[in-house]
Amino acid sequence: MAGETVVIAGGGQGGFQVAASLRQAGFDGRVLLIGDEPELPYQRPPLSKAYLSGQSSREMLSLRPEQFYADQQIELLAGERVTVIDRHRRRLQLASAGELGYDHLVLAVGARNRALPVPGADLDGVLGLRTVADADALRERLKGARDVAIVGAGFIGLEFAAVAAAQGLNVQVLEAARRPMSRAVSAHTSDYFTQAHTQSGVKFNFGACVVRLHGSGGRVTAVEIAGGQRLPADLVLVGIGVIPNTELAIAAELATGDGVLVDEHLVSSDPRVSAIGDCAQYPSRFTAGLIRLESVQNAVDQARTVAARLVGNGAPYAKVPWFWSDQGKLKLQIVGVIAGHDATVLRGDPDRGGFSVFCYRGGKLLGIESVNRPADHMVGRRLLSDGIGLTPEQAADEGFDLKAHAATPAKPSEHVA
Ligand code: NAI
Repeated sequence: MAGETVVIAGGGQGGFQVAASLRQAGFDGRVLLIGDEPELPYQRPPLSKAYLSGQSSREMLSLRPEQFYADQQIELLAGERVTVIDRHRRRLQLASAGELGYDHLVLAVGARNRALPVPGADLDGVLGLRTVADADALRERLKGARDVAIVGAGFIGLEFAAVAAAQGLNVQVLEAARRPMSRAVSAHTSDYFTQAHTQSGVKFNFGACVVRLHGSGGRVTAVEIAGGQRLPADLVLVGIGVIPNTELAIAAELATGDGVLVDEHLVSSDPRVSAIGDCAQYPSRFTAGLIRLESVQNAVDQARTVAARLVGNGAPYAKVPWFWSDQGKLKLQIVGVIAGHDATVLRGDPDRGGFSVFCYRGGKLLGIESVNRPADHMVGRRLLSDGIGLTPEQAADEGFDLKAHAATPAKPSEHVA
C-alpha cells in the first residue's frame, strides 16, 4: 500500500480512527476522510448524556483539534458526501460535484435514525438524536419544555429520559415492546432500569403503539396511542432504532444484508473496499451468525483492524464486544452479546447499589451486564476474550474470586468457538 490513496467515507468515530491508526502505523500514502457533517469528527456518546445536560462543552466533544489533521496529513473533507462509488474506475463522486480516485475505500458511513411512520411526525418539537446538531436543538427545547414524550425505550430514549427527569420535566416513555432495551439486555436488567427510572419520576407505557402526533399552529401538543389515549407533549423525542446506511454500497453492487457484508477481515465483496462500524455486518466469534453492532468499541476496534491490514499486518477481527450506558446515577456496562440466552445468574445485590447478570446459553457464558459493578465488567471482558469458562455456580458465588479466575490461562476446551 506504500504511496497509495485510502479514502474513508464517513467522518464518525470509526472513520476518524482508520485515518489516525493508518498514520500511527506509518502509512505514507494519501489519507482522505470525508464526512457529511460540518464539524470536526466528534464523539457521539456524550450527546445523550453530559453534553445534553450541559455538563460538557462542544470543544470536549471533538476527537482531535483541527491542527491534528494538518499535522498528520489527513485530508479532512467535512460537510462533504460521497454520492457514487465507481468500483471499476476506482473513483468516487462527491456531492460538491468533484471526483476522487482511490486505491482502497473504507466505508464507515454509519446508520441513520429510523423515522416514526405516523401522521404528525414532521411537527415542530418532534426530534431525534444522533448528531451534535440534534443535541443542540434538544438542549434548547428542553429549556422551554414541560411535557416530554419519548418514543422508544432503547439507549437513546432512556438516557434522554434520565436527563429530562433530572430537569424536573414530566417524562412519559412510550415503548412498543414489553420492556426497555430489550434488543440488548436481559429481562432482569430491563426491569431494574424500569424501576429506577420510575423512582426518578419517569412514567412508562409498554406495548404502546403511537398512531398519530397532534399539533397546534404547526407545533406538537400531544401523542396519541392505539386505543385513543392522548398524552400531552410539547417535546417529543423519537428513539426507535437505526437503519444502516447501505445505499451507496447497494448502488455500487456490493453484497449487503443488514449492512455492508464483510468477511472476518472486514473486507467487502470487493477486495478494494472495507466496511466498519454501524454500517458493517460481519462474522463474529461471539455470535452464531453474522452481526452488525452499534457501538463505539466496535467502530474503533474495527477501524484499527482495517488500518493494520492496509499496512500489511492483517488479522481477523476478534475483539470482544462491549457497551456502556449512563442513565442518571446508573452505569450499565455490557460485555458480549446476550441475544438468545436461556439462563441468567445474578451476582451482587440490586437493592444495595450494584449487581451483574451473567447470561448463558446451553451452559456457555454469552455475556455479562453490570450495573455499578465495573470490576465484574472488566473481568468479563477478560473471560470472554480469552475464552475462559465460568460455570453458573461460580458466577453466583460471591466468594468465588472472579479476578483470580480470569487470570488463569484458558484450557483449549474452554475457548469460544
Ligand atoms: P435502540 O435500538 O437501542 O432502541 C429502540 C427502541 O425503540 C427499542 O426498545 C424498540 O423496541 C423501540 N421501538 C421501535 N419502534 C417503536 C415504535 N414505533 N414505538 C415505540 N417504540 C419503538 O435504538 P435507539 O435508542 O434509538 O438508539 C439509536 C442508536 O444509538 C443505537 O445504535 C444505539 O445503540 C445507539 N446508542 C447507544 C448508546 C450506548 O451505547 N450507550 C447510547 C445512545 C445511543
